[in-house]
Amino acid sequence: MSNINTSNLHVEKAKTSKLADVNFEDLAFGKTFTDHMFMCDFVNGEWQQPQIKPYQPMQMEPSARVFHYGQAVFEGMKAYKDDHDDVFLFRPEENFKRINKSCARLAMPEFPENYFFEGLTTLLNLDRDWIKPGVGNSLYLRPFAIATDPAIAAAPGESYRFMIICAPAKAYYKGTVKVLIAEEFSRSANGGVGFAKAAGNYAAQFYPTSLAQQKGYQQVIWTDADTHTYLEEAGTMNVFFRINDTLITAPISDRILDGVTRKSLIQLAKDNGIACEVRQIKVSEIVEASKNGSLKEIFGAGTAAVISPIEGFEYQNTYRELPEINDHSYSSVLKQKMLEIQHNLAEDLHNWRHEVEVAK
Ligand code: COI
Repeated sequence: MSNINTSNLHVEKAKTSKLADVNFEDLAFGKTFTDHMFMCDFVNGEWQQPQIKPYQPMQMEPSARVFHYGQAVFEGMKAYKDDHDDVFLFRPEENFKRINKSCARLAMPEFPENYFFEGLTTLLNLDRDWIKPGVGNSLYLRPFAIATDPAIAAAPGESYRFMIICAPAKAYYKGTVKVLIAEEFSRSANGGVGFAKAAGNYAAQFYPTSLAQQKGYQQVIWTDADTHTYLEEAGTMNVFFRINDTLITAPISDRILDGVTRKSLIQLAKDNGIACEVRQIKVSEIVEASKNGSLKEIFGAGTAAVISPIEGFEYQNTYRELPEINDHSYSSVLKQKMLEIQHNLAEDLHNWRHEVEVAK
């Protein structure tokens, strides 16, 4: 990590706010952005002065390397507000560590910690009114980094841009989700970039997901690239299975994202006396459990979606429905516990909540 002690953040405030034009009751995920954005360029081997500017389009050379080789990484995090107008982040240091891991894997320079947190908290103070109180409301934060060199040689670049943009958010998926278990396509492989939040990991999912959508499924559950027999991730989320009263989720690896929601749920399950096994899980095991009635739940877990219960899955041309969820389902109980911690409505045993102090 670069050894820089003071960021000297430059702030240019928006002259007018777009806030009054936003209908917070009708928000499509990730389409409305707040008044400000954070950016910082890496040039000549150094991160330059970070800046906050009014949210706006930006100019870039058509040859910028990100357009040609997808040298881009991102994070997903959220800010929450309680009824006293206090703003909180949830385990933000995990996102900071992960984006730098992703940067390292994509041969991009790591971003300094003080720039990241000063940028984030200043941005959240400027756009504080965009964060609505109440469980179910949040401000989705999208830190990302791209290669900006005007050069199309297929090699790591020398100039980069790190940015943070913010979008008010409600639910990511409306209602439950039906999934198709992958038998042909793969999300990632050993030695690859599956563990990183590399932009290309998501682009590569669009085509197989669109095929699944044509069959009436919203997402694909990815299986291991070698054999397609082990269950790994669900679309843009980690995935949990409940067989009888035990939750099971795959261990993180080269291929599986170390999800912040995933690891928080494993801990919350423990805290609430729910058995949770972290181990490989075969497709055949859940098919068998579905046949004999012991498969009670499947749910995806991620920052954007929080917990997304799965209604049923297709595998080898057979659709299998899951039992209907209720208030006692693990997905409902754990989601509630998680949201209460995030919104400052419950005790935070593990110090996951970070208050964003009001700027003086
Ligand atoms: C997140 O949960 O933050 C994600 O990364 C999902 C995103 C692709 C919408």
